[in-house]
Amino acid sequence: MIKICCIGAGYVGGPTMAMIAKKCPDVQVTVVDINEKRIAAWKSDTLPIYEPGLDAVVKEALGRNLFFSIDVDQAIRDADIVFVSVNTPTKTFGEGAGYASDLQYWELCARRIKEVSTSDKIIVEKSTLPVRTAEAMERVLHSGENAMHFEVLSNPEFLAEGTAIADLENPDRVLIGGHETPSGQKAVQTLVDIYATWISRERILTANVWSAELSKLTANAFLAQRVSSINAISALCEATEANVNEVSHAIGTDSRIGAKFLKASIGFGGSCFKKDILNLVYLCESYGLQVPADYWRQVVLMNEYQETRFVKNMLRNMFNTIAGKRLAVFGFAFKADTGDTRESPAIRVCRELAAERAKIVVTDPKAIENAKIEMPELIDQIEFEEDPYKAAKGAHAIALLTEWPEYKTLDYQRIYDSMSKPAFVFDGRNHLDHDALFEIGFEVYSIGKGLKSHLQ
Ligand code: UDX
Ligand code: UDX
Repeated sequence: MIKICCIGAGYVGGPTMAMIAKKCPDVQVTVVDINEKRIAAWKSDTLPIYEPGLDAVVKEALGRNLFFSIDVDQAIRDADIVFVSVNTPTKTFGEGAGYASDLQYWELCARRIKEVSTSDKIIVEKSTLPVRTAEAMERVLHSGENAMHFEVLSNPEFLAEGTAIADLENPDRVLIGGHETPSGQKAVQTLVDIYATWISRERILTANVWSAELSKLTANAFLAQRVSSINAISALCEATEANVNEVSHAIGTDSRIGAKFLKASIGFGGSCFKKDILNLVYLCESYGLQVPADYWRQVVLMNEYQETRFVKNMLRNMFNTIAGKRLAVFGFAFKADTGDTRESPAIRVCRELAAERAKIVVTDPKAIENAKIEMPELIDQIEFEEDPYKAAKGAHAIALLTEWPEYKTLDYQRIYDSMSKPAFVFDGRNHLDHDALFEIGFEVYSIGKGLKSHLQ
């Protein structure tokens, strides 16, 4: 029986390992983490992350061939394959601060693996990492006295939160990078065989390690770039009376461009896009490639511009003062169907609204607890309210920041009646029926269309 250990029971490690365990009953999967609370939650009825469909997958395999544990050393020692899925945040200190990846947890894992192993192992990079991290890992793993052989593979994860289970069950592709040596190729084949249990062979791509590492950064950079591109056009639409939804639809039907990731928004968030692009910028710079570095940096700058532009539009349209005004923020998660708030555009929006001394009320169906953690400095200034009707009561404006489906079907007449007038809706996701809202009496601002007003 093949034994897998995964270090890191987060948004990536947890769902990915649960799916492998579900699909391969004859593979034993143990997920370990230094966070005891998180491990306990994985074993309980309330999983530590909200992900549609995840409960059933975990339930099916838990205790059969899926285990969660805090005994990191034992799980590593027993394993034939060790996946590493620990966090690799942007460095906040020293060389490369603000851009480079902080690899300290990664290196600690490598040292631990080397220290406790008593047999040869395949080490799989699951976390997103700078190109050539595998080389550094191999140096650590093979340093000093050690008879063991470790083969490092790169197997980046392309799942998106909110659709993780569908993405894992039926991925566009799985990518496995390995060295072009006999032992490298043998390790690649071992991992290919595991995925081939449920994924057709032509969707399992193999590559060299460096290509696999770079492909992950590139995929995220390209996706984020599409969002920044359409958001750049949204600003131009507002200035020219073009409608960004129409532009996006028109260009998206060009098969060379494609329809996905062209939805204008308040900006992209999530744990990966910004971190990975900044990492790409740093990599380019460290190879002396200044123009490519600046090119990618602009994608992030465009995103910050879009978030700030949204707040400026709120302020301008609300008569240049929001001090003391109650503003209801609908949605704090970085997108719908997740409770994750990492790098959510809502964070900057709330900070900037708070700086204008607005009275902010945040509502969200899944992310309120995480929202509280995101803004410790504003905890006294912001009210958190589960019920959107209560959040909107007495408010001057609603700022919709996450496209939760339930926000489409609220009773907006009831909400309008309970608000201060003139009542504004600022739709940061172009999610609501703007004509219907306008009919009710709202002043309606949407991305790429600007303000529709009764007041002129
Ligand atoms: C991961 C990677 O961090 C990221 O680089 C990649 O792009 C996506 O996958 P995610 O699963 O979302 O991200 O991270 P997170 O939810 O923070 O989980 C990481 C887990 O690793 C945490 O639970 C943390 O406690 C654990 N960890 C961290 C360890 O077990 N050991 C360590 O030394 C460090
Ligand atoms: C992303 C990648 O999609 C995934 O492959 C990778 O492994 C991790 O990073 P995730 O961060 O979960 O996944 O979310 P994603 O669906 O990509 O959305 C990222 C952000 O872009 C969200 O804030 C979303 O609202 C925004 N977005 C997306 C838009 O603003 N417009 C769009 O058209 C699409």
